[in-house]
Amino acid sequence: MTHDAPLPPDTYALIDALEQNRSLEWPERLRERIRAMERLEEWIDDTVENHPLHTRAMTLHARLVTIQRQLTESIRADIRQGTGAHSLRRWSPGNDIDAAETYDHLDALFGDVLAFDEPSGEIAPLEADMVFYQPTPVRHVFDLVERAGITDDDVFVDLGSGLGHVPMLVSMLTGARCIGIEREQVYVDGARRSAEALCLGDVSFVAQDVREADLSTGTVFYLYTPFTGAILDGVLERLRREAQQRPIRLVTFGPCTNAIAAEHWLQPLGESNANRIAVFHPVGG
Ligand SMILES: C[S@@+](CC[C@H](N)C(=O)[O-])C[C@H]1O[C@@H](n2cnc3c(N)ncnc32)[C@H](O)[C@@H]1O
Repeated sequence: MTHDAPLPPDTYALIDALEQNRSLEWPERLRERIRAMERLEEWIDDTVENHPLHTRAMTLHARLVTIQRQLTESIRADIRQGTGAHSLRRWSPGNDIDAAETYDHLDALFGDVLAFDEPSGEIAPLEADMVFYQPTPVRHVFDLVERAGITDDDVFVDLGSGLGHVPMLVSMLTGARCIGIEREQVYVDGARRSAEALCLGDVSFVAQDVREADLSTGTVFYLYTPFTGAILDGVLERLRREAQQRPIRLVTFGPCTNAIAAEHWLQPLGESNANRIAVFHPVGG
């Protein structure tokens, strides 16, 4: 909403400080830059067009958008050249994981790196027990790769992969073959376009309901609570049968972790924290 209400008294001191802070243009100052951009966007929204603060906020915001675009393009170039792992690890949060499902500066950056267009087309309504699309926060994908010990010997399968961010990031970080299974064709089309634009040959997407999909090649199965209830029960039963054929791990995030922790054929690897990635092995596996 745009209005001409008086601004808090320190607003001009704050924008002076942002304008003078050249370190916001350093690529590695991502967190600070994204915070500054959010603050500038608030001022842009809260002031009328000819307000002096509006103009200054627009100018600085445009400068920071340009820095973000350059950073996005340089990461994309590294990914296309096959040096994406090195480029991505630079952004690893290490063990400093904010255990929540909220989004942060890494999501702002990798949302741009991985998305080439807005998904277009009609999204089919979800059936009962199916969960709508929202991507795993990127810091938890770094955590996933670390805690599940994914290597290039693995075949990683994201069950309900949405726009495919997790399989793409896991492939870049580990060299594992990655498969995303997603029932919504619009998301699958978007994910395929991104993987192709980034030359990610080891990532593929299957437009299918997980209940009917081939699970026979996976070694690591990831569930960011794609479904609940009877669908989850049926898919877990299929995974239990897969586990009788070869060693597999399950990686979970979000509310489905509690339901999966109650499965008697699975045991958690390490301590499980309801708000972080959890890794499970079959008992005795
Ligand atoms: C919470 S999102 C997770 C997206 C992705 N795994 C990630 O972490 O970024 C759940 C996704 O599962 C999909 N989904 C729900 N039920 C499904 C089913 N039975 N088969 C395939 N995909 C399903 C939804 O369309 C949605 O894209």
